[in-house]
Amino acid sequence: MSKASKATDVQAEMAQLALHAKSAQELMTRIVELLHERMLKYNWVGFYMLEAGRPPMLVLGSFQGAMTPHTRIPLHQGICGAAASTGKTVVVDDVNQDPRYLACSLETKSEIVVPVFAHGKVVGELDIDSHFPAAFKDEDRALVEFCATLVGKTLEKSSK
Ligand code: SME
Repeated sequence: MSKASKATDVQAEMAQLALHAKSAQELMTRIVELLHERMLKYNWVGFYMLEAGRPPMLVLGSFQGAMTPHTRIPLHQGICGAAASTGKTVVVDDVNQDPRYLACSLETKSEIVVPVFAHGKVVGELDIDSHFPAAFKDEDRALVEFCATLVGKTLEKSSK
């Protein structure tokens, strides 16, 4: 079987992962591994988790890809901050045209950031960068949102 996979196939594998993961942390680690390995245009994949405090911060969690200088991001900065503060998915087809963009790698051309909700509140987000412009189509958005929902549900189960 080819290593490159369709988003819908990978989505089915994610649902299986969520059934067997022993913790939300394990699930997040497996999700970033699987997305990075199977979705060939997903060149950097990582979770940021929201840390309460003044100011609140997005803190880098599990990730795959090159180390990023952005390990802590305030909510008013970056595409990451925009997604967490609005609670909405942000898709950027050309990061160099977006003044909010915080550069992670010079090779990055497009990005998607999807908030993770637990008990109705943003608790983190799943961030993916691509070396290809406009890499994130509707089926990618559906896959990444599905992964973020799985993590949110798993977090809810562990913090009732
Ligand atoms: N590009 C993000 C910063 C995180 S790195 O991509 C890993 C942003 O603009 O918020």
